[in-house]
Amino acid sequence: MEIRLAGGGDIAAVQDIQNHYIAATHIHFAAQPLTLEEGLAEWRGAREKHPWLVSVDGGRVVGFARSSAWKARAAYQWTVETAVYLRPEACGRGVGRALYERLFAVLRAQGYRTAIGGITQPNEASVRLHEAVGMHRCATFERAGFKFGKWWTVGYWRMDLGGTEGEPGPILMVADALRIVA
Ligand SMILES: CC(C)(COP(=O)(O)OP(=O)(O)OC[C@H]1O[C@@H](n2cnc3c(N)ncnc32)[C@H](O)[C@@H]1OP(=O)(O)O)[C@@H](O)C(=O)NCCC(=O)NCCS
Repeated sequence: MEIRLAGGGDIAAVQDIQNHYIAATHIHFAAQPLTLEEGLAEWRGAREKHPWLVSVDGGRVVGFARSSAWKARAAYQWTVETAVYLRPEACGRGVGRALYERLFAVLRAQGYRTAIGGITQPNEASVRLHEAVGMHRCATFERAGFKFGKWWTVGYWRMDLGGTEGEPGPILMVADALRIVA
């Protein structure tokens, strides 16, 4: 299994993986399938500052992890939201952990200070993964989303990436950070 930076040719698989969870579960809150065009536009807009990683097994993308901006206002620029999704058949074999550990290594090298992950409850596998990599539950928003005819509670897990010492510096580009963690 290889973990590498996503390219444009991987985005169809990234959307396909998410579309399974959109159609079948409460885990992803979208209501309609995500299109390739939406995915490519999002990836192109994000990729310089946010790592999009894929795990590849036998030439097939079986999972991905990525970060995105937590909020747009300036003071939030050192905080990211993270996400990780695997194909069902790839779950429970350490792929999620490997993707998240690599993602956090790149985010640390970039100079981000805080990572936050939202998990719609219940999702034991995701809670266990977030806690296995060192995140701690920091918030609960009850009835934050409505899907499949019922309300869902979303818990948030967070982790310090770079500590609180000193003024945070400029965020490095993903390509520059990868040279540090390579
Ligand atoms: C959540 C997800 C990314 C976890 O990745 P994974 O590869 O299955 O998990 P790993 O094998 O790396 O295991 C990581 C930890 O979770 C635990 N775990 C994995 N699957 C579990 C399950 N079904 N139930 C309970 N714990 C589980 C492992 O034991 C391990 O914990 P440990 O290190 O304390 O032993 C993956 O299951 C997935 O894609 N699920 C569907 C999509 C999803 O929920 N994404 C997250 C949205 S918030």
